[in-house]
Amino acid sequence: MSTAKKDYKRVTVKSLVEMKSYGEKISMLTAYDYTMAKIVDGAGVDVILVGDSASNVMAGHETTLPITLDQMIYHASSVIRAIERALIVVDIPFGSYQSDPKEALRSAIRIMKESGAHAVKMEGGKEIKESIKRILNAGIPVMGHLGLTPQSIYKFGTYTVRAKEEQEAEKLIDDALMLQRIGCFAVVLEKVPAQLAKKVAEKLTIPIIGIGAGNGVDGQVLVTHDMLGMTHEFNPRFLRRYLDLYSEMTDAFKQYVTDVKAVDFPNENEQY
Ligand code: KIV
Repeated sequence: MSTAKKDYKRVTVKSLVEMKSYGEKISMLTAYDYTMAKIVDGAGVDVILVGDSASNVMAGHETTLPITLDQMIYHASSVIRAIERALIVVDIPFGSYQSDPKEALRSAIRIMKESGAHAVKMEGGKEIKESIKRILNAGIPVMGHLGLTPQSIYKFGTYTVRAKEEQEAEKLIDDALMLQRIGCFAVVLEKVPAQLAKKVAEKLTIPIIGIGAGNGVDGQVLVTHDMLGMTHEFNPRFLRRYLDLYSEMTDAFKQYVTDVKAVDFPNENEQY
């Protein structure tokens, strides 16, 4: 059952700010391919993130660092072909925006032009302010990402909760305010204390989308393969699994093997 307060035929960056203003929570999930995006969009999810988590989920890398701009564009264009309603946000991958604002703009333009995406997402605060401004000045909507920023995993050393200490929490609030001031349309807060996330959501007028950030924020995002239970090695406290597809798919594949070996598949009705 949907609890949407307004029926959006097409979700835009403006719709998200509007949803926050009248208290409707925003739903966001990842997709990296056409088939999954079609299902996610058809179910009424507001925002589809073509996340650089594709590096882990699709390619089996340990971190998000190896995925390339070309690969992100490939995933994003597959997703774009599937959708009718959702807003499509694409991660600018590691190494294609950190060195200078011109490179950042070139990468964002390639994503928008070659995939047809609606917005980009970038990890970081004041360190990448000039790059974000350059992209915004070109008319490309930017979603920020603060807290646990997986592209900096080697700086953090672990995937534990961020901003538990006052100094890091203050920097996070300053960065969030800065992202709003320069024109970002939303910010993802990943793995930070719920109280801090709530405080940020209350201070800002743009939506704060949380992952492992409690329910005091304006929306939630999860990695689709995790919430469907297709992955099973990853068990953070914040993850709610809506299905156990790992087991269900394993059972289906085992049954298929049995049926083929037993010459039970195909049967008379399954052949020409
Ligand atoms: O890449 C991703 O999937 C993300 C989400 C976890 C927010 O950035």
